[in-house]
Amino acid sequence: MSSPPEAAVRVEEVVHAYGTGSDAVTALGPISLDVPRGSFLVIVGASGCGKSTLLRLIAGFERATAGVVRTAGAPPSPGTGAGIVFQQPRLFPWKSVGGNVELALRYAGVPRGERARRVPELLERVGLHDVAHRRTWQLSGGQQQRVSIARALAGDDPLLLLDEPFAALDALTRERLQEDLRRVSERTGRTSVFVTHSVEEAVFLGSRVVVLTKRPGRVALDLDLPLPRTGLEPLRALPEYAALRATVSHAVRDAAG
Ligand SMILES: Nc1ncnc2c1ncn2[C@@H]1O[C@H](COP(=O)(O)OP(=O)(O)OP(=O)(O)O)[C@@H](O)[C@H]1O
Ligand SMILES: [Mg+2]
Repeated sequence: MSSPPEAAVRVEEVVHAYGTGSDAVTALGPISLDVPRGSFLVIVGASGCGKSTLLRLIAGFERATAGVVRTAGAPPSPGTGAGIVFQQPRLFPWKSVGGNVELALRYAGVPRGERARRVPELLERVGLHDVAHRRTWQLSGGQQQRVSIARALAGDDPLLLLDEPFAALDALTRERLQEDLRRVSERTGRTSVFVTHSVEEAVFLGSRVVVLTKRPGRVALDLDLPLPRTGLEPLRALPEYAALRATVSHAVRDAAG
């Protein structure tokens, strides 16, 4: 008999606190979540409720104070197995925009010739082809964020961790990148954990949405989004879309109250 497939991410009874003694702040938990392979989980919650903390634990940049975090069945190891877009872009300032994306492709083992072809393609996708040769510190916050997105998409890591990646973007670019990310996740079957404050974005992107309570963040709502994930349906026009958006909005308001 074969064992059930391992979840891409498993969070079991996790609590995370920063600091010690009387200065300790419990940021998160207790929280348990299983993220099946290929699913697109969106986390929504008020500022300071522990969303970034949860992503950092899954990325392996923090070790949980209590409980267990596993990715692909093993403790997460920072820098491997996940493409990450941090809330604050972390780019290599000594490299150009194109250089940052090229490096991600090199880490993913893409050969040199193919890298030269794929860098402009990825920059085109995030609308940065005309600044490929600039240094990253010469870019606006939203442009820097788009370099991080291109870099995360460049790799072939089975897991994508995205912390409010579209927060600093104008509405049009944001919508274009949402559609793009949705297509990428459908096509590649990568597992995504995506943090946002936007209910609209959560329902559009997610195959499931989890709303967290105020700090310390716990699960207030865990909802599957049974919307079609393939095909050309104008998703935002479906009646189910409006209904799900209302349910999630309600839960966010309740959780903040
Ligand atoms: N390194 C740290 N040291 C001490 N406290 C921290 C640290 N990082 C986060 N915190 C605290 O832990 C709590 C959760 O922080 P976290 O960054 O996970 O929140 P968040 O949900 O991502 O918020 P936002 O929506 O504003 O990004 C906050 O109260 C924050 O002040
Ligand atoms: Mg955050």
